[in-house]
Amino acid sequence: MSTAKPIILTGDRTTGPLHLGHYVGSLRTRVELQHKAQQFLLLADTQAMTDNVGHHQKVTDNVVEVALDYLAAGIDPRLSTIFVQSQVPELAELTQYLLNLVTVSRLERNPTIKEEIRLRDFERDIPAGFLMYPVSQAADITAFKASMVPVGDDQLPMIEQTNELVRKFNSTVGDQILVECEAVLSAVTRLPGIDGKAKMSKSLNNAIHLGASADDIKKAVNRMYTDPNHLRVDDPGQVEGNVVFAFLDAFEPDATVLDDLKAHYRRGGLADSILKRRLNEHLQALLEPVRQRREQFAADRGEVMNILRQGTEKARLVASQTVYEVKAALGLNYFN
Ligand code: TRP
Repeated sequence: MSTAKPIILTGDRTTGPLHLGHYVGSLRTRVELQHKAQQFLLLADTQAMTDNVGHHQKVTDNVVEVALDYLAAGIDPRLSTIFVQSQVPELAELTQYLLNLVTVSRLERNPTIKEEIRLRDFERDIPAGFLMYPVSQAADITAFKASMVPVGDDQLPMIEQTNELVRKFNSTVGDQILVECEAVLSAVTRLPGIDGKAKMSKSLNNAIHLGASADDIKKAVNRMYTDPNHLRVDDPGQVEGNVVFAFLDAFEPDATVLDDLKAHYRRGGLADSILKRRLNEHLQALLEPVRQRREQFAADRGEVMNILRQGTEKARLVASQTVYEVKAALGLNYFN
């Protein structure tokens, strides 16, 4: 029965705890999809190593943190398989074969990689492992023959590259071994930082973490950037580029209320403090049960490790079957 369900593979680099941007961009979708699909969730520690040389402890420490975020957000280990990338060597093996099907210049043209190279000031000194991580990501996805990948929109170039590799592999061996996949984006794909920067990110210090305390949430909402020209309550205000409205777009459940608030704000007469109070209430209601579940799991690390160990064993079984097929298709099955 479960084999009829679509297969999902997705995950996150383990460089820090997850925040509301992750929640809106992909985590919320994953929590819903786990009922309809067979979902594998990858703790991407190997990928995180590619740009954290010398900071490997940050990567390994955050494996548990991200696992706690998944469990806290409502990922149910009976429905989803959570596993650790570095503990599935079959993924590294598959990466090795896929690497022959892509050129260095194609990797350099990947828009996500290009942007990350710029952000990290690598210039020409790009670690080879970093440059090829889209191929390792393609291995993550194809090892599970996943057809759906819930991700934020910054990951779309990775999906495109994965599908190129799938087509290239299948045409090279003349058989349909690997499966193409589709990105599944959430309705609101990107949340700005609370400071108005385009992206919420831990390193920019503009994020609200899933484990944030009630007080942290309130302070973050109060710090949010609105319309700098909305000086008096009666002034007309601008909704576009207003961080509080970007958040209400993601978290206000009542669409009519949201439209009325926007109209009122544009006309003038609606105070920022009223909007912020409403947003704070929504965020508190959303994150309180998340924080409680996070604390419960954090108090039982042994149980979290059991979940990860069992998930990783299951993931290895699936990935090793695909690697077997890939190697056989390439004639790398001398002893069978
Ligand atoms: N690149 C993703 C990130 O930056 C993590 C990741 C690794 C991933 N492998 C994946 C996401 C496969 C989706 C599918 O967080």
